[in-house]
Amino acid sequence: MIVTIDGPAGAGKSTVALGLAERLGFRFLDTGAMYRAVARTALARRWPMEDAAELARRSAALDIQVADDRVLVDGEDVTDGLREPLVASNIHFVADNPAIREQLVRLQRARSELGDLVTEGRDQGTVAFPDAECKIFLTASAEERAKRRHDELRLRDVDIDYETVLEDQRERDRRDAERPVGPLVQAEDAIVVVTDGLTRDEVIEHLERLVRNAAERIRRGPAQPSASGGERRGPLRGPGGESIGGGLEDEIP
Ligand code: C5P
Repeated sequence: MIVTIDGPAGAGKSTVALGLAERLGFRFLDTGAMYRAVARTALARRWPMEDAAELARRSAALDIQVADDRVLVDGEDVTDGLREPLVASNIHFVADNPAIREQLVRLQRARSELGDLVTEGRDQGTVAFPDAECKIFLTASAEERAKRRHDELRLRDVDIDYETVLEDQRERDRRDAERPVGPLVQAEDAIVVVTDGLTRDEVIEHLERLVRNAAERIRRGPAQPSASGGERRGPLRGPGGESIGGGLEDEIP
């Protein structure tokens, strides 16, 4: 089974997708880390960032290995440097490059061949896995996302102010949405989950329920729709049947 989680920068996709994969016993793929790994390598090796053809040629020769939350490039574990602001501010050279996107989508699909997968990014439900069994679009308000990113960077001792994080994020949102290949768009059949005011565990629990419902629907087959009309349409309930709170909502696409 393939579960895709797409959404804008700072929506909490990585930690939620990893937690969800652990709960389900699925493999996990952080596709943003793959784009970051190529950008970091390009910067470290002083590749000509503005030369799209040359960048794609060199990128194609890289040996990129992803294993749950680690990324190896030519055998070197590059994971720890992936969140540097310099990588983020140069990532568009890589993410806007159609040939590099094609290369990375191929690697993403290869990982899905190993078995059940939770994969997160921008284009997982639309381009990489249009037939995924469960598609989630995870989002939050711009301010909440910037605050989370800022807190995360501060924890890593990166000295940057909130306004700069918000501004960088706006720029990335714009680029992600306007990219001609693999832009951030919600798949038509994705379930929207808004995470403002919710803890990581609350979100994971909710997503786990969505995945289990999707698995159940597949098990029953198309001839027998679920009695409630599907998770998407029902009110949100916690494990004991209580309402989970105003921040989390599913929308009928
Ligand atoms: O998710 P994360 O912030 O780590 O992604 C880093 C960048 O990689 C994003 O800003 C986005 O531009 C790009 N990206 C992408 N397609 C994906 C995942 C990430 O273009 N599937």
